[in-house]
Amino acid sequence: MKSIFFKSSGLVFFAMLLIGSSALATNYDEAKVGHYTLPDPLICNDRSPVTNAETWLAKRRPEILELYRENIFGHSPDPGTNTTFNVWEISTNARGGSATRKQIEINFSGTPAGPFAHLLLYTPAGKNTAPTFLCLQFSGNYTVIDDPAIAIFPVWNSKSGALAMPKKTVRGEFARNWKIAETLARGYGIAFIDYNEIEPDLSHGAGLKFGVHKNFPPPAADGWGAISAWAWGASRALDYLQSDKEVDAQRVILFGHSRLGKTVLWAGAQDPRFAAIIANCSGEMGASLSRRDYGETVDDVAKHFPYWMAGNFQKFAGHWNDLPVDAHFLISLIAPRPLFLNTGSEDRWGDPHGEFLAARAATPVYGLFGKAGISETNFPPLDHALQHDLGFNCHTGKHDVLPTDWDNFLDFADAHFQQKN
Ligand code: GCU
Repeated sequence: MKSIFFKSSGLVFFAMLLIGSSALATNYDEAKVGHYTLPDPLICNDRSPVTNAETWLAKRRPEILELYRENIFGHSPDPGTNTTFNVWEISTNARGGSATRKQIEINFSGTPAGPFAHLLLYTPAGKNTAPTFLCLQFSGNYTVIDDPAIAIFPVWNSKSGALAMPKKTVRGEFARNWKIAETLARGYGIAFIDYNEIEPDLSHGAGLKFGVHKNFPPPAADGWGAISAWAWGASRALDYLQSDKEVDAQRVILFGHSRLGKTVLWAGAQDPRFAAIIANCSGEMGASLSRRDYGETVDDVAKHFPYWMAGNFQKFAGHWNDLPVDAHFLISLIAPRPLFLNTGSEDRWGDPHGEFLAARAATPVYGLFGKAGISETNFPPLDHALQHDLGFNCHTGKHDVLPTDWDNFLDFADAHFQQKN
């Protein structure tokens, strides 16, 4: 519950009004984050300690995964065998011959009813298999690069809740968020998928009728919400990438920003085939600690985005200390795989400090595997990336993906993967 203290009973009523409207009560004062005790990831449900990687993997990790499924993001269905892939374009002469471009239709039901998503994949020319970034993103693939060959598909209109061809199309409109040429030049493939095609992110959960949920029974209170649906779709995109001979199946790095930062953490937690994760400004219910009252809170997510989560998540609005998990548990589910958390100094809503503290609290789990987490006690200087196995950076600027962030992401990928070429 938000830390609001009032002296007179008249003001208690006013305080209750404020709590009802959580936006008004958002705390941005470090002195008022309140006291909290984090649960210990290395203590099992039966109170026995975890002292080695084997016990972590065999016992504690599955417990934490189940706590997240039951209470936070919900249980997702098994992948099944319905999803089909149609590689409808292959150009070996993309980007002036420096890359191969593929466009792949993903049909999540294998029937004309879909839903369909579209994967765009560039791999560098002259390489047999390339480590590859899989990027979940917010718009059609034609926006990531000015390439006239990229097909434009209908998009979900968040106001009307209908699928329609975009009225205005600007190829490469969001190219500044990606460094595709540099990524390819450094020997990586890069793939994109619009999360709205996996399941439209429509208010009040209307998207559940149209996305991957529509092929399954309605979710129970512990069933999958939209974040799980997007994560499930990311794993299906990985199914394809693992079958593509130009992609190194053992080195697929999953990237997402904001709500998709939360999604990639959850996808990586559930699907160990993702070799590394980069979560950008993932914030509340991503990498930042929920027990810290700073910026967005559990209450905000429960109120504004209930459909992102399992129904059971609502129980924790106003009861953050009853959460059986916190963000350091989610981070620890990625261990020992490389994970990079990127934040922004002006993204107070996302609580960069809360992400740093969560990474520190997950560090003992990385330590079980002899991997380096965050040993730094103090929040690092801005734009000073900590390139550990569990890495962290806070860029100067807002809730965004900056070109300089991609330099860090590529360095991070180089440190863990490229030397194996
Ligand atoms: C909102 C939401 C955040 C989320 C962000 C985004 O601000 O409160 O939790 O990360 O949207 O996805 O852009």
